Amino acid sequence: MNKIVVYRTTTKPKGSGHRLAQALNAPSCASGILPKNTGFDEPITIVNYGYSAIPQWLSMMDEYEVINHWDAIRLSVDKRLTFQALNDNDVPCLEYTVSKDTAQSWCDDGYHVIARTEVAASKGKGIVVVEPYTSVPEAELYTAWYDKTDEHRVHVFRGEVIAVQQKVPMHEDYLEEKNFTYNDDICNYHNGWIFASKHSHPDMFRYDKKIGTVAINATKALGLDYCGVDVLSIWTGTGKCKEAVVCESNTAPALGTPFVLEAYTKAILESIK
Ligand SMILES: Nc1ncnc2c1ncn2[C@@H]1O[C@H](COP(=O)(O)OP(=O)(O)O)[C@@H](O)[C@H]1O
Ligand SMILES: [Mg+2]
Repeated sequence: MNKIVVYRTTTKPKGSGHRLAQALNAPSCASGILPKNTGFDEPITIVNYGYSAIPQWLSMMDEYEVINHWDAIRLSVDKRLTFQALNDNDVPCLEYTVSKDTAQSWCDDGYHVIARTEVAASKGKGIVVVEPYTSVPEAELYTAWYDKTDEHRVHVFRGEVIAVQQKVPMHEDYLEEKNFTYNDDICNYHNGWIFASKHSHPDMFRYDKKIGTVAINATKALGLDYCGVDVLSIWTGTGKCKEAVVCESNTAPALGTPFVLEAYTKAILESIK
């Protein structure tokens, strides 16, 4: 089996990239830093955890394979490029525009618009929810509001769904303890949302294959081997998933939940010759 190296934006011993390296029992390295204890004459598998830069030490490697190529990561990091690639490949995703005039016309027609002042941000940074019939601000990207009932993070590895999480509201006590304010529109941690699974929240968790298909097709369209795809969906009152669209692709997905980390570890190890 090839020797594995986890390629990350940092070598600090923290975060999900570090967790992945530990689980794979592999050294982790950044662009300018040579992988520790790696002989350059042996074939290696570079597991790229969300880094869009070419490793500076690459030319010193004789033989290597890459899981998640840096060029593909570049498409995922810039939300405009992500949506462009998804549209080009007919993968349903949020309706988007980079034109302020177009966004303003959506707003004037009575729709909510999400303005993104930063296209390469995460954790809700640079998101502005624009109310209908108001002025849209200057931004790098706008998406039309999608009236989702559900939101999933679907983990895909080479054409297969390996783990599914669903965003659910966190417990009120925890919300208070953290001093967060609940927000129903932008579902992230600081707005009171956590990732649940069918095991942790069997009463709340629901999933439909349509959601997985959208995530698999998005991963393929973006040229990625693996990805945590955020999928928004609309379900009927009788519990049927009507439609699903891609909101975002995460090439450095959080791996704090053990079953998700295990799913990636298993998939990676099984894929390496
Ligand atoms: N157009 C939209 N319609 C509905 N909800 C949206 C839209 N855009 C973003 N959201 C909400 O905002 C959250 C954060 O957006 P996302 O694109 O995932 O950015 P981030 O990079 O900050 O995670 C999503 O998880 C979703 O709940
Ligand atoms: Mg997100």
